[in-house]
Amino acid sequence: MSAYTARAHTNIALLKYWGKADQNLIIPTTSSVSLTLNEFYTDTTVEFLDNLAADEIYLDGAFLTQTSTKKVQHLLDLVRQMAGLTNSARVTSYNHVPTSAGLASSASAFAALAGAASKAAGLSLSPIELSRLARQGSGSASRSIYGGFAIWERGYDDLSSYARSINEEVSWPIQLLTVIINDQPKKINSSNGMQNVVATDPFYQSWVAHANIQVNPMLEAIERHDLAAIGAIAEANALQMHAQNMMASPAFTYLTDESWQIISLVQNLRKEGLIAYVTMDAGPNVKIISKPSDTTIITEAIQASLPTATITAATPGPGLYITKGLK
Ligand code: PMV
Repeated sequence: MSAYTARAHTNIALLKYWGKADQNLIIPTTSSVSLTLNEFYTDTTVEFLDNLAADEIYLDGAFLTQTSTKKVQHLLDLVRQMAGLTNSARVTSYNHVPTSAGLASSASAFAALAGAASKAAGLSLSPIELSRLARQGSGSASRSIYGGFAIWERGYDDLSSYARSINEEVSWPIQLLTVIINDQPKKINSSNGMQNVVATDPFYQSWVAHANIQVNPMLEAIERHDLAAIGAIAEANALQMHAQNMMASPAFTYLTDESWQIISLVQNLRKEGLIAYVTMDAGPNVKIISKPSDTTIITEAIQASLPTATITAATPGPGLYITKGLK
């Protein structure tokens, strides 16, 4: 059988997925909307072999133990089931994104794995089938099948919960300026974080109700290419998500003093007339929704107050694609 390599880019949620209605199938409590980025991606090669006793998984050149790769093996099992295969697989993955630091490396990782594993198993899946498969590795990966803007429709079961494209080719000026404060892996992974919130936050149902109300205005803002409206809705949604973490028991937060420094800096830039809004995921890093032409002014402001931050300007990126198939 052939080895296949797939590349998938990270996506950042403009409306967040923060809670599962079904933990086994990864069915979310809300629909989420994202932008796939050009800058950060994962390359994954999968080959099903006759002579392997168990799946072998390598990340950035290092062999990973079976216990740390349960989700990868689960996705491989789903692919084996679909293709009627019993062979173990060798998976080699390279992350071109800081791992586990709230920059959605799991999104690009599981989307690339779904693409490479399904091809290597001889399957030819549609984007929706790939999205459902990637979803069962990591929810946010369902959206990285597509370039540009995507929406993961919440659905209610395996068949109905998948992402679809809103607009793959984004030809108007929007960027996410990523401000990396800390590239160390987070202490509470997103899965544990969100399920703590679902289980203990007394205001969680209000979050779900409000998040659902934010979907249509976000889709309309994307259709109008209205950067200020996209930013305003995304920032509110992100801050509301992080507020839920503070309402969990025990309360927790991914945001640090440096995160808040950037958040208030962006609020000040707005007072000066710039279109700039923040969004944060399961880590301290901040992404600034802004115009590419404002990169210098925003970067200079950040460097003046936080000289150690690494800043990368990311624009809309492509969906999943196969880069290599060996004979
Ligand atoms: O896909 P997961 O399990 O890594 O969860 C992602 C959660 C957030 O990044 C915080 C939000 C999102 O929708 O991507």
